[in-house]
Amino acid sequence: MINIRPYREADPVAVEALLDRSFGPDRHKKTVYRLREGVAPMAELSFVAFDNKALRGSLQFWPIQVRPLRSDGPPVAAVLLGPLAVEPAYSGRGIGLGLMRVGLQKARSLGHRIVILVGDLPYYSRVGFHRDGAEGLRLPGPVDPNRLLIRELVAGAAAGLEGLIEKPSHIEAAPPVDQREAAP
Ligand SMILES: CC(C)(COP(=O)(O)OP(=O)(O)OC[C@H]1O[C@@H](n2cnc3c(N)ncnc32)[C@H](O)[C@@H]1OP(=O)(O)O)[C@@H](O)C(=O)NCCC(=O)NCCS
Repeated sequence: MINIRPYREADPVAVEALLDRSFGPDRHKKTVYRLREGVAPMAELSFVAFDNKALRGSLQFWPIQVRPLRSDGPPVAAVLLGPLAVEPAYSGRGIGLGLMRVGLQKARSLGHRIVILVGDLPYYSRVGFHRDGAEGLRLPGPVDPNRLLIRELVAGAAAGLEGLIEKPSHIEAAPPVDQREAAP
């Protein structure tokens, strides 16, 4: 029985190990990690999937903003979905989609309006992500444009959205992972 629950302070070390196994040790070199450097994940939007008290999956979100490049308009707040990872031995049981449904519902309930991610459209389209409206978005580094996806949590929130996806102007510093408590 898989149990999805909010992330607890004791989880980061186990989660980091799962992410290293899922994405490889070079994952921090990806462009999307430039949006996470020095920024804490959103504690209220961090979830883990447990089975028999062992970690089976993890989903986090990071705060971002889209700074218009063609106008002097203010940055538009959004959230970055990911990383999402599920233990390979537990794949195909709905854990990834379940984590995202919980996370997206919570994000909407907290008033977030736009979710952006870099990932495979055939998978993320199952929870409403698409390419429409993402054409005008840029990241601070190379990314396959076909993998830059968007999902509105409020109808029309991303209409006309264009610009550079960047860290939010006001950021909450992230504690180094190795100073966090290990899971008991
Ligand atoms: C991708 C990942 C999160 C999926 O988690 P999961 O718990 O196995 O997924 P779910 O059980 O919720 O969904 C499984 C379904 O999604 C499909 N699916 C999984 N990954 C997919 C992908 N990349 N593209 C298209 N479909 C995919 C499966 O084929 C399966 O389809 P089915 O229901 O028709 O059988 C997991 O495999 C993982 O952690 N992979 C390594 C890390 C990673 O790639 N993360 C995503 C970054 S883009």
